[in-house]
Amino acid sequence: MAICFRSVTTNAARNSATSKHFVNGVSQSSRLFSSGSPFLLNLGNTPAQAHAHAAFPSPAANHAYAAQFLASAAASGVGGKFLQPRQRTATASSVDATPLPQFPCEKSAIDRTFQQQTGTGRERAFSVNDLGVVERQHSRWVRNLPAVRPFYAVKCNPDPTLCRTLAALGTGFDCASGDEMALVLGMGVVPNDIIFANPIKNIKDLKYARAQGVKKMTADNEAELYKIREIFPEAEIVLRLLADDSGSVMKFGAKFGAPLVQVEGLLKTAKALNLKVIGTSFHIGSGCFDAQSYRKAIELSKHVFDLGIKVGLPKFTFLDLGGGFPGNPVENERNGDVPAFEEMAAVIREATAANFPPESGVQIIGEPGRYMATAWSTLFVLVQGKREVPKVAEDASSTRRFLYYINDGVYGSFNCIMFDHAHPEPIPAYRFMADRVSLDRRQSAQREAARPFAMSSAASASMMSSLFSSADSSAPLSARAFHTTFGRDQACQGTFFGPTCDSMDVVATDFPCEELFVGDWLAFAHSGAYTSAAATTFNGMPKPTAHYCRSRQPSPKAE
Ligand SMILES: Cc1ncc(COP(=O)(O)O)c(C=O)c1O
Repeated sequence: MAICFRSVTTNAARNSATSKHFVNGVSQSSRLFSSGSPFLLNLGNTPAQAHAHAAFPSPAANHAYAAQFLASAAASGVGGKFLQPRQRTATASSVDATPLPQFPCEKSAIDRTFQQQTGTGRERAFSVNDLGVVERQHSRWVRNLPAVRPFYAVKCNPDPTLCRTLAALGTGFDCASGDEMALVLGMGVVPNDIIFANPIKNIKDLKYARAQGVKKMTADNEAELYKIREIFPEAEIVLRLLADDSGSVMKFGAKFGAPLVQVEGLLKTAKALNLKVIGTSFHIGSGCFDAQSYRKAIELSKHVFDLGIKVGLPKFTFLDLGGGFPGNPVENERNGDVPAFEEMAAVIREATAANFPPESGVQIIGEPGRYMATAWSTLFVLVQGKREVPKVAEDASSTRRFLYYINDGVYGSFNCIMFDHAHPEPIPAYRFMADRVSLDRRQSAQREAARPFAMSSAASASMMSSLFSSADSSAPLSARAFHTTFGRDQACQGTFFGPTCDSMDVVATDFPCEELFVGDWLAFAHSGAYTSAAATTFNGMPKPTAHYCRSRQPSPKAE
């Protein structure tokens, strides 16, 4: 796991985003359904199953099936509702032209969900997840790596709707535990489309894998081979190799992967135990900034395939390229140090053609996590408290600094700060929406301007209740007019605390940001990878709810 919200919304990306891009993300109808819905669709005839005997389902079959799947999902209501395309009233010239980070999907799909959530008195943080982004990332994969079947790394974001969508598109799944296997098996994914890719397996999970017929699994040490021999002797073992992960933010080498010096011994042990080794895997590290890492690891794999023959094992037939692919949804766009996916794919195509050409009969898979999940999700959180940091007398002319208290933090979605080296960047939601400012936000500023910090608790309670029950989102106000009217100080800094009582619950520190008010919503783009997956409810703080949309057309930049 690795990388950050910021890594996919770098300054370069920001600067290349035109205001037009955001302003003109005009109305297209999207189908929305909510997370708790019974998304009961028959996946019993996915392309993966229909093509169980072929190496891979054809991309065309995948896409045809996916279209059918998603259409039937929407038609069956999937527990959700259709929202009408909203009326657009703001014009391009009325919005703030400040360059904004790029967003991966057709904006109005997110916008409608945002209006729905904030316009009905909700104050809980929520994510808006766009299946259209997932579809486009998948087809981009198929275009660039047609010979590599993606096995989505469920750990990255086990959202059932995301997994169902990927299953419908024909991906396989990388599962790290019995629960992850149960999740995708419950969707109709066949055991053969799962790899149990945790080199150290819990015994109960190993028994579960055997009971379910999930045979493919990774291992990287002798003790594990003995464990597998005892519990699941028919397993198909994929030897996890220690790859050079020096080109990645998040390195796995200290924990997983057999060093080359041990590989021959392990292969001999496997042979002695009469285990079936089918091939090798590696993980070049998550958040990879050196595309050549794949080439080196593929060459290493070829060497180990040859070692297998040397020790007398049957010829290997399976190569697993692991994860490490970037979540940036913009094609061919390098993101700071992170190469574009296309750049990595070119290296992989060349290296696999040289070492594992089609006539070798080797099945090749990848285990993308963040590639599939990063960009589909936008997280919205509420500013529920605010304090200004007093200026010291001699520093009277310095930037105003505020402390904001938001309703999701490091114990929730922002655990990625700790576990994924993330640097989340808050964006005032009205900027995200760019062309529409909801009435409740305007009210919040009006009310706070009237009596900023000296409210009685009763007054405060009444303000909050009217603030959050405002349902009128039909009063657009341009961002620029808003600034003029209410005199927001533009050049401030904000430190954003999460909702718990822990002072280490900090999401961003001294972040350049205009002044915000209680009741403002903030957006965090590209927040789908390694966020909700590990969120807790520490201090009784609820996790964000998840909402779904499917943008039908990509933004011009994203495709
Ligand atoms: C075995 C394995 N495969 C795939 C992944 C996914 O990596 P990424 O999100 O970088 O694609 C991980 C991440 O931890 C992993 O451990």
